[in-house]
Amino acid sequence: MKELAGKVAFVTGAASGIGFGITTALAQAGVKVMLCDIEDAALKKAAENLKRTNADVDSVKADVSLKTELKAAADATIARYGKIHILVNNAGVAGGGTYGAWTDAGWNWTLAVNLMAVIAGVEIFGPLIESHQEGGHIVSTASIAGLISNTSNPYNVSKYGVVALSEGLRTDMAPRGIGVSVLCPGFIRTRIADSRRNLPSRFAGAVPTNIVPNEMMQRVRERIETGINPLYVGELVREGIENDWPYIFTDAEFEPFIEARFAAIKEGFDKIRSRTPRR
Ligand code: NAI
Repeated sequence: MKELAGKVAFVTGAASGIGFGITTALAQAGVKVMLCDIEDAALKKAAENLKRTNADVDSVKADVSLKTELKAAADATIARYGKIHILVNNAGVAGGGTYGAWTDAGWNWTLAVNLMAVIAGVEIFGPLIESHQEGGHIVSTASIAGLISNTSNPYNVSKYGVVALSEGLRTDMAPRGIGVSVLCPGFIRTRIADSRRNLPSRFAGAVPTNIVPNEMMQRVRERIETGINPLYVGELVREGIENDWPYIFTDAEFEPFIEARFAAIKEGFDKIRSRTPRR
């Protein structure tokens, strides 16, 4: 989508962090943005701050893991702005533990917010974007953890799902004039480490309260606290939408790890390459 000014975007998880960065960058390019989030006070504050810069924005509260609320948020956006061109499936949570600390609630919460809400978003907003024939774009926030996984937690599984969905969707949406990008950030300075603040009661127990942070968890927290500016990420996303980038990365820190994964996959093929499969 080369011309962004005057278009309409719907951004989930827009009240803070990366979602607010994306919203800000789009609003600065003249996009009308409906901010959506579960955290009411932060959502209102974010929208008010942007309105003070003369941005044309509004807000709607929704728990994206509830399809009915997401649908109501889509209806509110159409009622407010008439059309939707850009969907940003960004809301996400860091939940659930690794093998040995898995809980049903941890899996259910993480997959519901990080993956099923992205699927629901595409289902609900796809036809709305298609309907006006002016083209559009869908960006979903995965993670570098959607391309490399060194631990068995629900977060990585959810993010691999978002990458798989986006790669396939890109093929399905191209003939419809809709671009698709997947955002795979590294460490970004946000409140993701405090995701439990948004834990709906129906997923109670998803974040164990008795866990003593180990060295790895501490390191991740520190890396996030000193991470990349989310406003910079927003600008990259805007550029990705304008130029239809399939993958939007924030930095090259993890490229060697992804190369190592490719090498391991290739090694798997090398082991059987010379054999004739039995049919
Ligand atoms: P954040 O915690 O600052 O922002 C997440 C936003 O999503 C919050 O405003 C929160 O209220 C909202 N949210 C949470 N559950 C929701 C629900 N059920 N319904 C609606 N909104 C909900 O964290 P951050 O980092 O900005 O997260 C945005 C996305 O970026 C997530 O998908 C996350 O997994 C992803 N990400 C973040 C990285 C980082 O280092 N911060 C790295 C890679 C990916």
